[in-house]
Amino acid sequence: MSIKKILFGTSVMLVTVFSLNSCCEHGDENTDVVADTVQKTEIIKKIREELIINRDTITISDYNNVTDFENKHTPDITFGEKDEKGYVVINVLVGSAGIVHPSVEEHWIDFMTLFINGEQYKHIEIQNGEGSNKQDFFAPLKNGDVVKIVLGCNIHGIWESSVHYE
Ligand SMILES: [Fe+2]
Repeated sequence: MSIKKILFGTSVMLVTVFSLNSCCEHGDENTDVVADTVQKTEIIKKIREELIINRDTITISDYNNVTDFENKHTPDITFGEKDEKGYVVINVLVGSAGIVHPSVEEHWIDFMTLFINGEQYKHIEIQNGEGSNKQDFFAPLKNGDVVKIVLGCNIHGIWESSVHYE
């Protein structure tokens, strides 16, 4: 075997070993990043769960004298245009009579469930922070359908309201 062939063969081997080594080192880094992300997600989830302290179902005591506190937790449901397939945008703002529920890290709307004619249509879990008190749903509706939103405030329990789609 000539010196040239031996040198060429050795170079190929070195390049191959170097490439495999680089590949595996990046592989380890990627595994670390994934593990780190999973761990952070678990911590965020745990903190969120610990902040949800009230799961009592609350109802308005007297519809003739609704309090600010009750208005603040009552979902206001309005409708957008219907598309050609019969789907309608359902806008939910938490708070009624001009009183809007807070949406901050410690106090927010942690879930919303949409029911149509008593059947659950959609359920969403909402992260704490800005924007939790305003959600849009998209669902097929016909005149007379009863649209109900049930929601959870992490501190003040579970509230609901219903409207007819006309
Ligand atoms: Fe609240």
